[in-house]
Amino acid sequence: MLNIDAEISLEEEILKLKKELNAVILAHYYQESEIQDIADFIGDSLELSRKAKSTQADVIVFAGVHFMAETAKILNPEKLVLLPDLQAGCSLADSCPAPLFKSFREKHPDHIAITYINCSAEVKALSDIICTSSNAEKIINQIPPEKPILFSPDRNLGRYLIKKTGRDMLLWQGACIVHETFSERKIIQLKVKYPEAKIIAHPECEEVVLRHADYIGSTSKLLKYVQEDSAKTYIVATETGIIHQMQKSAPEKLYIPAPPETSCSCNDCPHMKRNTMEKLYLCMKNKYPKLTMDEPLRLRALKPIERMLEMS
Ligand code: 13P
Ligand code: SF4
Repeated sequence: MLNIDAEISLEEEILKLKKELNAVILAHYYQESEIQDIADFIGDSLELSRKAKSTQADVIVFAGVHFMAETAKILNPEKLVLLPDLQAGCSLADSCPAPLFKSFREKHPDHIAITYINCSAEVKALSDIICTSSNAEKIINQIPPEKPILFSPDRNLGRYLIKKTGRDMLLWQGACIVHETFSERKIIQLKVKYPEAKIIAHPECEEVVLRHADYIGSTSKLLKYVQEDSAKTYIVATETGIIHQMQKSAPEKLYIPAPPETSCSCNDCPHMKRNTMEKLYLCMKNKYPKLTMDEPLRLRALKPIERMLEMS
């Protein structure tokens, strides 16, 4: 690792390196604001996968978490895919180890496995179709009604989708540490204080929180909702990073992050927030850390991702 000269402007250096490498910087909405501002494209998991598939750049710098960069590598084996911090994981992906998922599948051989993109390449390779929070409902609705479904790894998203689609799916019991942190009690207190506020929530939230939501959607859908809706105040039940784009696109409105039960900042994803401008600069400078993948695994993981892209 290189030491960073205190005199340099990280922003200027990153832009210079971007040209030199013919790189594209893709960022998820949960990244810190400075990273979002320097990115070429910001999006939800589905949009980022589509962008990763269509980019003409030689290098993909992925400002997100490991499973996102891994998906970009699966779609682009010939490209260099960089992730500022290889330790940027995901509690949902961690909750679903491939050997356990394999036995789950073996116990239910007649089921089709629809798996949320927040999982490892090994789990993708064992799945039939990948989905994200923005296309899951559409994908489930295309499965013949007589075909039983295993939905993994997020039990909250799964429960929400059972309600939306009326399909009785078997759920893996994983959860996101960030989206399970919100306090129903504190959200109700906020609603009493701001009675005109709308509650908007990501479907990874627990049912007790979703029950109060005026609108539920993926990060991109939540952003679009506040842009088009007429309310002036929102209680936002997802990771705080999304509020940066909400403030940029509708600055006249008030966005209140839904609070956790304790005074921690548990509504900041510790994995997403491992990436910093310094690490972004260093990974471009060093062309490291990079994603590598065994080709047979990549080919197996590619199939259910391609199915998702075709079906959404
Ligand atoms: P989306 O951006 O696809 O809504 O996903 C949220 C998330 O938790 C990503 O890790
Ligand atoms: Fe994973 Fe939750 Fe962080 Fe998203 S917010 S990357 S689901 S831990």
